[in-house]
Amino acid sequence: MRTRRIGETQVSAIGLGGMPLSIEGRPDERRAIDTIHAALDAGINFIDTADAYSLSDADFGHNETLIANAVASYGGDTSDVLIATKGGHTRLPDGSWGLNGTAAYIKQACEASLKRLGVEAIGLYQFHRPDPKTPIAESVSAVRDLLDEGKIRYAGVSNFNSEEIKQANEILGGRLVAVQNQFSPAFRSSEPELELCDELGIAFLPWSPLGGISKAGDLGARFAAFAEIGAARGVSPQRVCLAWMLAKSPVVIPIPGSSRPASIQDSAAAVDLELTAEEILSLDKS
Ligand SMILES: NC(=O)c1ccc[n+]([C@@H]2O[C@H](COP(=O)([O-])OP(=O)(O)OC[C@H]3O[C@@H](n4cnc5c(N)ncnc54)[C@H](OP(=O)(O)O)[C@@H]3O)[C@@H](O)[C@H]2O)c1
Repeated sequence: MRTRRIGETQVSAIGLGGMPLSIEGRPDERRAIDTIHAALDAGINFIDTADAYSLSDADFGHNETLIANAVASYGGDTSDVLIATKGGHTRLPDGSWGLNGTAAYIKQACEASLKRLGVEAIGLYQFHRPDPKTPIAESVSAVRDLLDEGKIRYAGVSNFNSEEIKQANEILGGRLVAVQNQFSPAFRSSEPELELCDELGIAFLPWSPLGGISKAGDLGARFAAFAEIGAARGVSPQRVCLAWMLAKSPVVIPIPGSSRPASIQDSAAAVDLELTAEEILSLDKS
């Protein structure tokens, strides 16, 4: 498995996104664990989760617990697995999503994540999304305190624009190691943030890289160039998409979601698909 860098740590160039394993439509626990084990078998050692990946507030933390259990029950060596989680989103009883970016909440959420993940320090802790009711400086300062206290090894942010990324990196004293933003063939407006991360040497983690859970299967139908290059190379349009992202910059580490072993196996193989400059140009223009 090819690797890329998060902070000083090398991780697989493709990560596993845990969300489809815990939100509405999730598979049963056996299939969920098989999917995580298939990712580890394929050489993936970077797994993205969040405390809020659950059906509602009633099973808040479902995805973190699932991933911790799956990693613990894996037969092989998992000492190099980096689990990235997030705090700052809440879930309400009706299943809707809320936000809480206050320092007190972030610190309490991190403590709960530490317990669910069963670790002394979280590998990568990401502030999930700016809360319009709380200044970003307050939320990111809480993450800085967690870093200073050794409760998290690395700090990241998610859904931040370029100005907010610079501000976060300043508050963290240059210790921002990852930005997780939406990026896919259907959603390319985060290119400026990707370019900024490239300049600063910060990992850029595209979320919903295949267009999101409900649309990922139709990627080839919606973007013909991905289907055409996939057909010519004998691979899926989804694999072409991930290879295209990897070619954008060495800081890019896509985190495709998966609820079946076959889809994460297919995605993991994107690290070995080298696209030509001509192919990349046609995908860029599509
Ligand atoms: N920071 C944020 O605000 C935020 C927001 C959304 C998501 N995320 C993170 O980003 C991750 C990825 O996003 P996502 O799960 O929403 O969307 P996605 O990765 O674009 O799509 C996920 C779906 O793609 C399918 N898939 C994966 N690999 C495939 C392949 N090679 N061929 C065909 N289908 C494939 C999977 O199908 P099967 O289910 O059939 O396996 C899965 O349901 C999430 O899991 C989560 O960790 C973060």
